[in-house]
Amino acid sequence: MKNILKLAVASLLTLSPCWALASEGTDGILTTLEADDLVVVQAGEKVYQAHCAACHGASLEGQPNWRVRDANGFLPAPPHDASGHTWHHADDLLFEITKYGPAVVIGDDTYKSMMPLYKDILSDEDIIAVLSFIKNTWPEEQRSWQEDVNGTQLNGFKTVPKKKSSLIDKLWK
Ligand code: HEC
Repeated sequence: MKNILKLAVASLLTLSPCWALASEGTDGILTTLEADDLVVVQAGEKVYQAHCAACHGASLEGQPNWRVRDANGFLPAPPHDASGHTWHHADDLLFEITKYGPAVVIGDDTYKSMMPLYKDILSDEDIIAVLSFIKNTWPEEQRSWQEDVNGTQLNGFKTVPKKKSSLIDKLWK
């Protein structure tokens, strides 16, 4: 029962901000992170400080008021620590958001985001490393939750219809 409940809540949470179609595969490849491989994690920390910390914070704390869009419609960078919702998303989804950017993953090319796409900046190995570093920092509860999402994402995401940005806004909150 607990697992069914977790699955239901996870499906809801993974809607925010509606990275729903990700498992259909922006790239059709299921990427997994290596958060327990300390060599990968250490390499990832360097990538993080060089490429991500400016927006997501040196301690993964994100930007202030990260749930509220600015006057131009852009969201601030969310935290990657336990206070954010990076850990609500499966490994593959995090990889695709980072590699291809939110608009592509959402399937809405009008979606405005400050999040860069890294496909021409970082190698797949570096993207896996940086996300493995982030995942490695999560406390046990978030790690365990996220592993559940990982295990269910293929069934969990496929039936979710594409949503528009206005709904994304509501789901972020
Ligand atoms: C220029 C600022 C900026 C930089 C640099 C940046 N991001 Fe982001 N990132 C954002 C913003 C803003 C969002 C919120 C997405 C949106 O606009 O909907 C975001 C969202 C994300 C998300 C989705 C989080 C969630 O909870 O859904 C991931 C994963 C992510 N970023 C990873 C990274 C990684 C890894 C790096 C470094 C390689 C990075 N970002 C660099 C601004 C940035």
